[in-house]
Amino acid sequence: MVLDVQNITKIYNDTRKSQIVANDHLTFGIDKGEIFGLLGHNGAGKTTLIHQIMGTLTPTSGNITLHGKSVQKFPKRARSLCSLQPQSEFQLGFLTPAQAVSTMGKMRGGGKKEVKQRMDMLFERLDIGKWAHTHGVKLSGGIRRLTVFCMALIQPGKLVILDEPTNDVDPTRRRYLWDVIRELTNDGTSVILVTHNVIEAEKAVDRLAILHNGQFAAKGTVPEVKRKVTDQKRLEINLLSIFDRHEDHDWSISTHRNGANVIYSLDESSVSTAIEWAEFRLKQGNILDYSLSPKTLEDVYVELTAKEGGADFVEC
Ligand SMILES: Nc1ncnc2c1ncn2[C@@H]1O[C@H](COP(=O)(O)OP(=O)(O)OP(=O)(O)O)[C@@H](O)[C@H]1O
Ligand SMILES: [Mg+2]
Repeated sequence: MVLDVQNITKIYNDTRKSQIVANDHLTFGIDKGEIFGLLGHNGAGKTTLIHQIMGTLTPTSGNITLHGKSVQKFPKRARSLCSLQPQSEFQLGFLTPAQAVSTMGKMRGGGKKEVKQRMDMLFERLDIGKWAHTHGVKLSGGIRRLTVFCMALIQPGKLVILDEPTNDVDPTRRRYLWDVIRELTNDGTSVILVTHNVIEAEKAVDRLAILHNGQFAAKGTVPEVKRKVTDQKRLEINLLSIFDRHEDHDWSISTHRNGANVIYSLDESSVSTAIEWAEFRLKQGNILDYSLSPKTLEDVYVELTAKEGGADFVEC
């Protein structure tokens, strides 16, 4: 196991003398070559957790072991074993992407030629080469973020931590970025991906944990988390116009409408009845189309985190 987090609690002392429990008894592990997603709302405790893994913040209680040694005892070692793309905007100033990335590569012990080759490869894969020599102050937000992503990957440690890597990045380059991350894991590097983007995480991660008010609301593979929370299906129909009325049905557990789009949640046992109804409506020309699918990770995420207070834990 690359990372072993045991019962971590982090309490901040607020300036108003109250205490904030940012992480509340968190336990999980990450294997070699695994992409682990850390999902959760604003203030859920994600950044707090990764700073403790990197040894830049000390836990109030619990233990973290990285590559066989305690992070608390050897924080410097932890920092060199991890590469971080921070959430906060990194100010490049007048540095160009090429200068920032090659400087980081050399600081992390890379040779000049090796750093240059890897930098060229990353810039090409992310299609940002034409900005390689543009001053940071003249770069767009997305290119600045991709530059910081390259800084994290130029001489990657055993564990790469990406805190919201795709914010501001366009859909095409997001795909390039995911390809680069997946390739990185082929040679055994592990990745923690911190994100709010549940749809993207569903495709990208091997396992995930959902943080809610400092506690894990669920952890496991995507299908495990979904199955443990619900076996329900979603029937989605598109009405002909936003002015059409939709029908409520006994076979539907809940109905959500957004414009002409209606989503029925249903149990497995109601699937054939629901499909029969949808087929009939389609043949009659009352609806444009329909689709049946398992609940998405986003549905499950909303269901788990809509609750107030502590989470109902789901171990997978
Ligand atoms: N240095 C600090 N002192 C006091 N409280 C803090 C400190 N840093 C974070 N917190 C609090 O700890 C909680 C968790 O914060 P954290 O930054 O870990 O959340 P997050 O999940 O990363 O949120 P976001 O998605 O918005 O980045 C929040 O309530 C936050 O206000
Ligand atoms: Mg954060």
